[in-house]
Amino acid sequence: MSTPASAGANLLIKGVRIEDGPAGVDIRITDGKFAEIGAGLTPREGEKVRDYTGKLVLPPYIESHVHLDTALTSGQPRYNESGTLFEGIEVWSERKQTLTYEDVKERAGRALRQQAQFGIQYVRSHVDVTDPDLTALRALIDLREELKDSMTLQLVAFPQEGIESFPNGRDLMRRAAEMGVDAIGAIPHFEFTREYSVSSLNFAVELAQEYNLLMDVHCDEIDDEASRGLETLATRALEAGIGPRVTASHTTAMHSYNNAYFLRLVRLLKMSGINFVSNPLVNTHLQGRVDTYPKRRGVTRVKELTEAGINVSFGQDDIEDPWNPMGTGNLRDVVLNGLYVTQMMARPEITGSYNFITHNAARTLNLSDYGIEVGNTANFIVLDAEDWFHALSFGAPVLANFRAGRVLAECEPLARRVHF
Ligand code: FE2
Repeated sequence: MSTPASAGANLLIKGVRIEDGPAGVDIRITDGKFAEIGAGLTPREGEKVRDYTGKLVLPPYIESHVHLDTALTSGQPRYNESGTLFEGIEVWSERKQTLTYEDVKERAGRALRQQAQFGIQYVRSHVDVTDPDLTALRALIDLREELKDSMTLQLVAFPQEGIESFPNGRDLMRRAAEMGVDAIGAIPHFEFTREYSVSSLNFAVELAQEYNLLMDVHCDEIDDEASRGLETLATRALEAGIGPRVTASHTTAMHSYNNAYFLRLVRLLKMSGINFVSNPLVNTHLQGRVDTYPKRRGVTRVKELTEAGINVSFGQDDIEDPWNPMGTGNLRDVVLNGLYVTQMMARPEITGSYNFITHNAARTLNLSDYGIEVGNTANFIVLDAEDWFHALSFGAPVLANFRAGRVLAECEPLARRVHF
């Protein structure tokens, strides 16, 4: 998936640090592409100059898991009082009755523009297809096309109420594939039986292969240690040779697996090459709701997966909807929460944590033409901080979000004053 370069963006960025590299680097952008990166570059005729001396430049953030169709509906028609995933599904099922094409497009567009302000340019959104009219999917397919010069949107056919356990579930998934989704989903932990769970995954893998699509499964998002859709998904991915094109999202049951089982499982996960997305903010809110004390954290084993060399990225999951009454779309909040809750607080884990929402996520989304390298499309963000540690710790604003060298969103630096 590549980004079209907008004509004429010729720009010189002065004095920045790129990722964890040295400070004081300049970046030349010619015709919307990175043309030269180095110290002491001088402006050429017709080139605009932006002096960002002392600031941090990163590739744009990637939202690898969000639900744009449900975004900004919190309280409609009622709030999720228990805070469980399952009450959230009930509330959404009620809200779905009043869904319109315009409603979805307006809210999703608003959420995407909010995310652009926080430095995001690539978004993988799940779209509920357990709706006989596929209203949300029609709206988001159109929005994907309308916004493509500003945001890269990937859509996942997400069967919120099941494939085998929802009337015509298989048919709806197939219609979504034909309409043009980017990825096929599933929800094995919500299916009525273990047999349905397995057959839904088999069906999803076959459908993805038939239409040559990526996969992203809501997999074992439950505290039940017996929920083991993941082993089926990873095995099918391994056998089909499609692991790097497959993602297991949430996998919160892994938090509760016994260590002997996990040890066996991790070998399969490595062999399969599948990707993981963890949504630490929302899963610390939704999981452990039927625990008394001790209360489980409910986030998958990010630290252990990472140490095993398995690709993990972080997602927001929900922005003010039945599963998250808060949430702005700002991935900085997700990374900060993720590091604390997974106890990934060693210095290298903190300083490298931007990878969860940049390079790791690019791998999850199977992106090409991503990263600050000569020849790539000039997509990048500038943060009001000298390095990632300070950007993360102080919640530094994204000063500018550049797409093909043009500004998508920007803000003024914060002026902080202390009067003592
Ligand atoms: Fe989700």
